[in-house]
Amino acid sequence: MSQETESHLVSLCQQVLDSIHTQDWETYASLCHPTLSAFEPEGRGHLIEGLPFHKFYFELESNGRAVRSTISSPKVRMLGDDAAVVTYTRLTQRVQADGSVPTGVAEETRIWQKIDGEWRHVHFHRSIPGA
Ligand code: GLY
Repeated sequence: MSQETESHLVSLCQQVLDSIHTQDWETYASLCHPTLSAFEPEGRGHLIEGLPFHKFYFELESNGRAVRSTISSPKVRMLGDDAAVVTYTRLTQRVQADGSVPTGVAEETRIWQKIDGEWRHVHFHRSIPGA
């Protein structure tokens, strides 16, 4: 598979992260398959299936403070032509109420599947190192 495809898949992951921070549900939902499954700290060890769990966070009122996630050291493993595993470290800079800007770190694995010619996000797993 081409370097172009791998770069595109990393770019799709960045679009997912950006849509979360801007609370852009339309973009997030367009990138994800409706049956998206996920393990993330918010699920407290339970497999989350579907989009409603994630949508809840998009509907919260924004505190207006700047936040940005950077994808560090991405690796793409193609599983044939129609599926891929993207792994990376996510660095999140988030302005706090006191003005400090700590950087959060998370390990993320996102699985993409080409469905009807479009890459759709079908599973992810986020862990906090040392947690
Ligand atoms: N919590 C939603 C996501 O990371 O895709």
